[in-house]
Amino acid sequence: MQRIKNHFTSSLIDWFSNAKRDLPWRKTKDPYRIWLSEIILQQTRIDQGKPYYDRFVEHHPTVDSLAKSDEKSVLKLWEGLGYYSRARNLHHTAKYVSHELKGNFPRNYEGLIKLKGVGPYTAAAIASIAYDEPKPVVDGNVFRFASRYFGVEDDISKPATRKVFENLMLGFIPAENPGDFNQAVMEFGATVCTPAPKCDECVFRESCFAYKHKKQSVLPVKSQKVKVEEVSLNYVIFDCNGAFLLHSRKEGIWRELYQFYLSEDSTPEALAIKYKGSISHKSEKIRHLLTHRRLWVTFTHVDIAEMGTLNLIGKELGLSVFSFKEMLTLPRPKVIVNYLQRMTDSLIL
Ligand code: ADE
Repeated sequence: MQRIKNHFTSSLIDWFSNAKRDLPWRKTKDPYRIWLSEIILQQTRIDQGKPYYDRFVEHHPTVDSLAKSDEKSVLKLWEGLGYYSRARNLHHTAKYVSHELKGNFPRNYEGLIKLKGVGPYTAAAIASIAYDEPKPVVDGNVFRFASRYFGVEDDISKPATRKVFENLMLGFIPAENPGDFNQAVMEFGATVCTPAPKCDECVFRESCFAYKHKKQSVLPVKSQKVKVEEVSLNYVIFDCNGAFLLHSRKEGIWRELYQFYLSEDSTPEALAIKYKGSISHKSEKIRHLLTHRRLWVTFTHVDIAEMGTLNLIGKELGLSVFSFKEMLTLPRPKVIVNYLQRMTDSLIL
């Protein structure tokens, strides 16, 4: 076993030292920066997350700085990354660490996991990378790579299976550089042992269970597929010569993000008639994928002639007036950011 351990671990570390990407959070032991990177990288690819990490560090080089900012500005920095509860928990935890722990992050896994927004995966990542604690991480990449390489056929939809993988990796994580080992497994799963794996370039091919038994497409075993719900959203953009109506959502995953009026009880056409506006543009149905939902979004532009009327509509429907420039400073869901960008590019707005 020791020989297998040495072979697997050293091959992986060797692979990582050649293949690893040059990333800013790999050049620091600062738990704040490592925590920040790991919260951003939950459910997010490295190339998508890196610009967000850079922006956060630029605005908030320390946890005390992040703690002092307001939630709206944190959501603005987070705009477009999705899973906005991560941003809200990030801010909550920054305030907790700054105020209650005098700016010092907990020094080990047990302390880290008590922080809001930090689960077993993130606590293991921070503890191993910042403090060299040999705690194995288990995320989707680890499930994929380890299940194939070792031939683990346990169902990863079952919560109990995480422990199986944790115990397995515990046998391989080295005491001297556990952070590199964890990052290597994740990176290998993200770049080589991908859902459609690149076995041609895999250094583990000769000893891989799935390769030998041609089981790459059935591992990892996942019995429950995510159910995707179809949802239609019809936004109405009330526009009076460059003044727009928006409001922040009060509930749900987009809570505190700003959006246009969502017409639910009546159609955009009926609203245009009711408020004596004219429809100047209607988008096609735009598809936007979330984890559990497929959104079909339309935007109907309703031009309003008088500011007085716009103010009245705002009052009646619970929206506030913003100039185009102000609108760009508000945190908004990605589907709205993308749409406004397209409208600006095509000179419709
Ligand atoms: N995924 C999440 N965190 C990561 C890290 N530090 N390295 C590689 N992949 C990751």
